[in-house]
Amino acid sequence: MKKMWEGRFSEASAKLLEEFNASIHFDKNLFEQDIAGSKAHAKMLGSQGILKPSESEQIVAGLDTVLAEIRAGEFEFRTEDEDIHMAVEKRLSEIIGKELGGRLHTARSRNDQVALDFRLYVLEKNQEISSKIKALIATLNSLAATHLNTLMPGFTHLQHAQPVSLAYHLMAYAFMFRRDAQRFISSFDRNNLSPLGSAALAGTPHKIDREMVAHELGFAGVTQNAMDSVSDRDFALEILFNISVLMTHASRLCEELILWSSQEFGFITISDAYSTGSSIMPQKKNPDVAELIRGKTGRVNGNLVALLTTMKGLPLAYNKDMQEDKEGVFDSVSTALSSVEILNEMIKTAKFNEENMLSATKKGHLSATDLADYLVREKSVPFREAHFITGKAVAYAENLGVDLSELSGEQLTQVDINLGEDAVKFLDLNASKEARKSAGGTANESVKRQIKQIDEWLEINVCKEIR
Ligand code: ARG
Repeated sequence: MKKMWEGRFSEASAKLLEEFNASIHFDKNLFEQDIAGSKAHAKMLGSQGILKPSESEQIVAGLDTVLAEIRAGEFEFRTEDEDIHMAVEKRLSEIIGKELGGRLHTARSRNDQVALDFRLYVLEKNQEISSKIKALIATLNSLAATHLNTLMPGFTHLQHAQPVSLAYHLMAYAFMFRRDAQRFISSFDRNNLSPLGSAALAGTPHKIDREMVAHELGFAGVTQNAMDSVSDRDFALEILFNISVLMTHASRLCEELILWSSQEFGFITISDAYSTGSSIMPQKKNPDVAELIRGKTGRVNGNLVALLTTMKGLPLAYNKDMQEDKEGVFDSVSTALSSVEILNEMIKTAKFNEENMLSATKKGHLSATDLADYLVREKSVPFREAHFITGKAVAYAENLGVDLSELSGEQLTQVDINLGEDAVKFLDLNASKEARKSAGGTANESVKRQIKQIDEWLEINVCKEIR
């Protein structure tokens, strides 16, 4: 079998080498980007007079035929073609003739070609993932708007801590996911530069117009140092990192959904459509989707560490090690896309059990901090002492087997001389929530501001449709 690079070789490739060396079985994923890049390159070669206009046109038409064949599933991917770049070029030469097909690779190397293809792919996925995250944020935001008055315990150390609204808890995730979306968008902006025309590593003596190619492909500009451009995989590392953080956030939400759907919590009921059953226990309804998202976080973290490790210590410029950059990215990207989409649907269809949340707030003396704050504010008691007095009130309630919020004004006065009957209104759980009006607090007026901020961001930040 003829190889494009076989000129200096006198022996044929070993079969083992061919299979080991080939990337076609996974980089065929990049056919759209590869052909778009080749078309832009051929047009530029034509307009610069490096190719005759008619030659450039025939190449572009030939590439369109190859594209149509691949899209229609009529293209045969062969291991001996090694990678998508050579497979496309070979087929092009069959269609338009070897003489003309062989001119496409003028002023280009597979090193800048693969850097371009993979970068185009990653940029598109940055956009796709950020739009999916926005849909999830929109769900959280509108759900929050309907749960401003749904009281639930806020936790620290997974122990009941202070009363908050469900809206507030949901908005915490909206802000986490907004940072995630912003991370994908900023990676997009930073990496939106074309490496094509870097050639093998040192540029080319041909009078190419890199800006024209960049413009044709929708990039904001061109990269500045060819050696860096062919060896840079930061864009791939960034999307892997962005996905790891996104999945870490998703796994935290999923962990809570798993806990909340347990018999112990009973805060939510995940819809049947997004739950699974047990093969032996007929009564079981399991939160498999949430568990899988939590589990897949490990796998995307593995992909990030794998590529960091591959890139570590690589000399400039291109090294074949870098062919190992793609599969982990493809895997993390599809994991992120499907996880965010299904998480969104699962939340949309879940039922939040407000009564169970409310009764949970009556366990754990959630308004204790409010009582201490009352002593500080109304009675000028130093906070440390107020903390101690409140502790006594908690012990008093525990002895009676009730929650602090259930004590009467009269009972409070028996705990400590500083406690008046008026203290009782600070024990009210809803009042506790509404007292926290500080910026970022759980009071409704503060949460409404948070919802508004996210709403405005969602509206301004409609994903840029670049290419
Ligand atoms: N299949 C290769 C990759 O994915 C393409 C670049 C090959 N370049 C080279 N000089 N061998 O990285």
